[in-house]
Amino acid sequence: MKILVCGGAGYIGSHCVRQLIAAGHEPVILDNLAYGHRASLPAGVRFHDVGLADAAALDRLFATERVDLVMHFAAFCYVGESVQSPLKYYLNNVSATYTLLDSMMRHGVKKFVFSSTCATFGIPATLPLVEGMPQAPINPYGQTKLDVENALKALAHGQGLSCAVFRYFNAAGAAEDGSIGEDHEPETHLIPLAIGAAQGLRPELQVFGTDYPTPDGTCLRDYVHVDDLSRAHIAVFDKLAQPGAAYFYNLGTGRPTSVLEVIKAVEKITGLKVPVKYSPRREGDPPALYANSAKAQAELGWQPKFMTIEPIVETAWRWHKQKPKGYGDR
Ligand SMILES: NC(=O)c1ccc[n+]([C@@H]2O[C@H](COP(=O)([O-])OP(=O)(O)OC[C@H]3O[C@@H](n4cnc5c(N)ncnc54)[C@H](O)[C@@H]3O)[C@@H](O)[C@H]2O)c1
Repeated sequence: MKILVCGGAGYIGSHCVRQLIAAGHEPVILDNLAYGHRASLPAGVRFHDVGLADAAALDRLFATERVDLVMHFAAFCYVGESVQSPLKYYLNNVSATYTLLDSMMRHGVKKFVFSSTCATFGIPATLPLVEGMPQAPINPYGQTKLDVENALKALAHGQGLSCAVFRYFNAAGAAEDGSIGEDHEPETHLIPLAIGAAQGLRPELQVFGTDYPTPDGTCLRDYVHVDDLSRAHIAVFDKLAQPGAAYFYNLGTGRPTSVLEVIKAVEKITGLKVPVKYSPRREGDPPALYANSAKAQAELGWQPKFMTIEPIVETAWRWHKQKPKGYGDR
């Protein structure tokens, strides 16, 4: 299939692009490089430097590229910034997504795969998180994703859109060959921050909260390998042949890992010490978040290849070791 990958020059999108090519599909990339990296894309792949809010450019693109399906990774993803500048998030993550969907509908492109997040659940009453549990985001970032999820349900019902929504837990790791990996600026994700601190590129790793009701007092999260996420995106294609269907899947390993366990794994894999500064809890951090992904396993045959933290950190280390400054384009 010919697939438009919006946000394809970003962290998860660029990994998915490689998997699409390996599976025999033809990805076409749209990214305004607000955060992405041109160098994360393989040579020869078609690239459109276009912003999603540009309706005229989208119309031109759909008229010329004739794609079968759209994967939508493009969004702003900083929770703290979304609290400070909510409108920036509603405009980019919600409005611009509606512009994209509107252009798709007018050009008869009716298959859509959307990157949502476990942040749509807010602070869960029970764990692990199952798809049907109540969604009550506690920040604008999570709310923007939930708004799009709801719009997709309506579009599936009213206009025959066929869509899959994946709620990722903590995307982590890098391509197994070390060719591409995570390079966010600013970086907020634990594994790259811990590796950066171990490499001496950051003064220390700040650990927020050591008094949570968890086995070692630090937060528990569900780290899922970026290539495993990509595999789910491809596994859902067959289901999208059914017009007007909307599917929702939580994607995680189901295994909670604490902040201290991640630090231990980074120290073991790198052979370096992670300098740590312990700080008070950060507002809005739930003590634990982890997925029940039985639905994706049963319906898509999706099984994460990376089930524990060390092999995930190993792939991340392969990337950061050879590219300590990432793609070096910022
Ligand atoms: N990384 C995670 O752990 C995680 C967890 C849950 C959900 N998600 C979601 O997955 C998606 C991808 O995350 P990521 O970590 O790869 O982020 P990323 O910032 O690395 O990638 C997003 C890409 O979208 C592009 N982009 C943003 N707004 C755009 C616009 N208006 N027009 C064109 N391009 C635009 C950016 O330039 C960037 O290349 C996001 O939607 C995010 O909300 C990520």
